[in-house]
Amino acid sequence: MTVLIKNIKTLYGIREQENGAIRGKSLNSINTLNDAWLLIIDGIIADYGTMSNTDAWQNLSLTNLIDASGKLIIPCFVDSHTHIVFAKTRESEFVDRINGLTYEEIAANGGGILNSSAKLHLSSEDELFNTAWSRLKKCIKNGTGAIEIKSGYGLSVEDELKMLRVIKRLKTVSPIPIKATFLGAHAIPLIYKNNRAEYIHLICDEMLPLLAKEELADYCDVFCDSGFFTPEETDLILKKAKTFGLKPKIHANELGLTGGVQVGVLNEAISVDHLEHTSKIEHDILYNSNTMATMLPSTAFFLGIPYPDARAMINADLALCLASDYNPGSSPSGRMSFILSLACIRMKMTPTEALNAATINGAYALELENICGSITKGKLANLIMTQSAENIDLIPYNFGEDLIEHVFIKGEIFE
Ligand code: NIG
Ligand code: FE
Repeated sequence: MTVLIKNIKTLYGIREQENGAIRGKSLNSINTLNDAWLLIIDGIIADYGTMSNTDAWQNLSLTNLIDASGKLIIPCFVDSHTHIVFAKTRESEFVDRINGLTYEEIAANGGGILNSSAKLHLSSEDELFNTAWSRLKKCIKNGTGAIEIKSGYGLSVEDELKMLRVIKRLKTVSPIPIKATFLGAHAIPLIYKNNRAEYIHLICDEMLPLLAKEELADYCDVFCDSGFFTPEETDLILKKAKTFGLKPKIHANELGLTGGVQVGVLNEAISVDHLEHTSKIEHDILYNSNTMATMLPSTAFFLGIPYPDARAMINADLALCLASDYNPGSSPSGRMSFILSLACIRMKMTPTEALNAATINGAYALELENICGSITKGKLANLIMTQSAENIDLIPYNFGEDLIEHVFIKGEIFE
């Protein structure tokens, strides 16, 4: 199948080759081509150029010719942190927070993650698959072209495996790449409240061997934060996961300066995610590492907690990434263009910085940099075509409305 998109007003995110995630001040530049064409062969970006030289495709027989006059093409978003397998929404906690309770207080009362876990226990694998699949399709419609999905609402051997099997099934039907992350250490179940060590033993010695045997996960996550898992517990779990080939990607520094960044970097985490609370100490540690600093601004928006200090992290020359954290408790949306709006409006990132963080750096945060996240020959043609627009600043500017006209997945319009 040969697809040509011609007359593109501006093609954004061109990278001739991959040579590392984008750090610091470089986040504010992006390669573009005006009055461009893009050639896609069998779902892969084959070539691009300007309309002044069309020799490369003049004699090709095209399956599909798309005229993008006045429109922009950007790489699809890479959403590197989601929890889209869940049984039920949690709007009653949303109202509880309006009435004054905090996220931690709700969790301490058996709500929050434990609430989702109780509901997930009652749901069948098929039910979970169907609802997650429809969420995933909506994410793709909104421009996501690769995604990570976590377990973590099971919190028992059977239910964690159930969630991971759902993710494995999603991988088989999904038109976009999926990475699966095991998050058995998302919360301590009530029955282990006074015996945390026993639950950690269950994670390390029962869950990990079984999920490794079925090849159900690519990464291991721990919610390392106050009221959840300590850095010492996190270290234990991550080291054990590594023996099964699972690299760390962890929740860190959402609720305080709780040592998550330190233990993540120590264990060579691919990413440390959240980072609402960081200081120069964390910035220095991240600077001296290959760990991606992933920010999830819709969680800060939805919970009313401080936003990550993106400007300080850019000044510290860190590699920054943006993701949705789509989950029923702290971010019930996977609409990445709104994540860009929050990054710009509340974290003072420029639209270009936000776009780089949500595309190519997202790909690095999932080790998918060789197949998505930019306009590069040989990568998947997972692309967003905007409506008529002058430039990409309009994407975060139009915060209530998507500027997306079409999402192309492997060169085909996703319906
Ligand atoms: O990333 N922080 C931990 N986990 C999720 C929230 C999960 C939930 O409340 O259901 C998060 O915000
Ligand atoms: Fe999360």
